[in-house]
Amino acid sequence: MTTGHPALIDAIVSEITASGAIPFVRFMELALYHPQHGYYMRPPESGAERIGWSGDFYTSSDVHPILGQALAKQAEQIDALLGHPDPFTVVEMGPGKGLLAAHFLSACQSASPSFRRRLSYVLIERSPAMRAAQQQQLRPWLDQPGLVTWVEEMSSLAPTSVVGLIFSNELPDAFPVHRVQVAGGELQELFVDYQNGRFVEFLKPLSLPALSGYFARLGITLPEGYRTEINLHALDWIKQVADSLCRGVVVTIDYGHSAQDLYGMNRSKGTLLCYYSQMASEDPYVRVGLQDMTAHVDFTSLASIGEEAGLSATGFTNQMSFLMGLGVEEMLDRLEPESPQFRAAIHLLKPEGMGRTFKILVQHKGIERPSLDGLKFKPFFGEALARNELQVGKL
Ligand SMILES: C[S@@+](CC[C@H](N)C(=O)[O-])C[C@H]1O[C@@H](n2cnc3c(N)ncnc32)[C@H](O)[C@@H]1O
Repeated sequence: MTTGHPALIDAIVSEITASGAIPFVRFMELALYHPQHGYYMRPPESGAERIGWSGDFYTSSDVHPILGQALAKQAEQIDALLGHPDPFTVVEMGPGKGLLAAHFLSACQSASPSFRRRLSYVLIERSPAMRAAQQQQLRPWLDQPGLVTWVEEMSSLAPTSVVGLIFSNELPDAFPVHRVQVAGGELQELFVDYQNGRFVEFLKPLSLPALSGYFARLGITLPEGYRTEINLHALDWIKQVADSLCRGVVVTIDYGHSAQDLYGMNRSKGTLLCYYSQMASEDPYVRVGLQDMTAHVDFTSLASIGEEAGLSATGFTNQMSFLMGLGVEEMLDRLEPESPQFRAAIHLLKPEGMGRTFKILVQHKGIERPSLDGLKFKPFFGEALARNELQVGKL
C-alpha cells in the first residue's frame, strides 16, 4: 500500500496519469525535490528535523565538529599553496542544516587574520527550507559583510570564478538516480506506474543512450538479472564543478566505491536505500516524500569524468585516513578521554564504521598536483580508481 505525503503522491500520480509511466529517476526527483512537497523542499513539521539524531538520518557533522575542523585546516594549506588569493573562496554544496559550515567557520577563528579577512564562504543549496535552516545555524557569522553568501545552484557561479576549495559532504548520494536491470541479455530501465492505488515498477528499454554508454565507458559487463543504479546527475555536476573552478581543490566526501566494487557481484541488487527515523528500508514506494532516498556513489566515474572536464585526480582516501592526516590525534588530545565528545569523535574514525564507509575524492585544477595533509595516508590511492583501460590521473 502506498503511503506518504498526500499532496506529493497526488502530484506524482497526476504526472503519471498525464504522461504515462515515468522513469524511476523522475519518481526520485519528485519524491525528494518536488518544489512544494518534496522531502528536502518542504519546511519540516514544527519541532521536527530531517537530518540529525532525532531526524531520519545523521551525518558526520551531527556526530562531532572534527570533520569541519579538519576541512578548515585543509583549506588553510590549500590557501598557502594557491599563494593566499583574495578572496580565498570556499564553496560548500548541499550543506544540509549548515552544521559543517558552522564547524568550519568556528575553526577558522584560530586561523591567521589574513586568512579570515580573505575568506568568502559560499553555500549552494537548492532547497529554500534547507537554506532557511542554514541561515539560522550561521547567524553568528552573518553580520560580517561578504563572509557567508548563498546561491541556489552550481550554474549560478560564473565559469572559472572560484579560486579556493569546493567541497561537499553527502551530496551526490542524494541526487536522483536511474535504476537499471539486465533482462533478456539487454540493459533495461525501471519505470514507475500507478495502478490500483499503488506505485508499481516495470522494465522498459532505456530512456537515454547515456545509460548503456555508462558501463561501456567503464568496461563493465553486468550479468543477467543484475540490478543497479546510474547517477547521471553526478556526472553533470562534476563537470559544472570543473567549469566553475579556476584554481584550487575539490573535496567530495560520501559513501561509495570504485566502479569495480560498486558494480561487483556482492551488490547485484543495487544500493538504493531509504531512511526514515534512523531506519533503513529498500522500499521507495512507502512513506513517499517522508523518507530520504540515497544510492552509493561511483567514485571512478566522478574521477574520470572530472578528468575529462579539467579536474586532475589528486587522491582517493577514506574519512579515517583524511582525519588522521589532518592531525585528529591533536584534536583528540584536547578532549577528556572517555567523555561523550571523545567517544563521538572516535565514532567518525572507526574502521568498521564511518571511518571507512565514507570515502574522500580529492581533485585539483590550475595548480601542480598538491601534496595535501588530508592525503598523507594512502590506503587505496590511485589503483582503486584506475581500472582496466581506464586511467584516472597520474597517481
Ligand atoms: C544529505 S544532505 C547533506 C548533508 C550535509 N552536507 C551534512 O554534512 O550534514 C543533502 C543536501 O544537498 C542538498 N541538495 C541536493 N541536491 C542539490 C543540488 N543539486 N544543489 C544544491 N543542493 C542540493 C539537499 O537539499 C540537502 O541539503
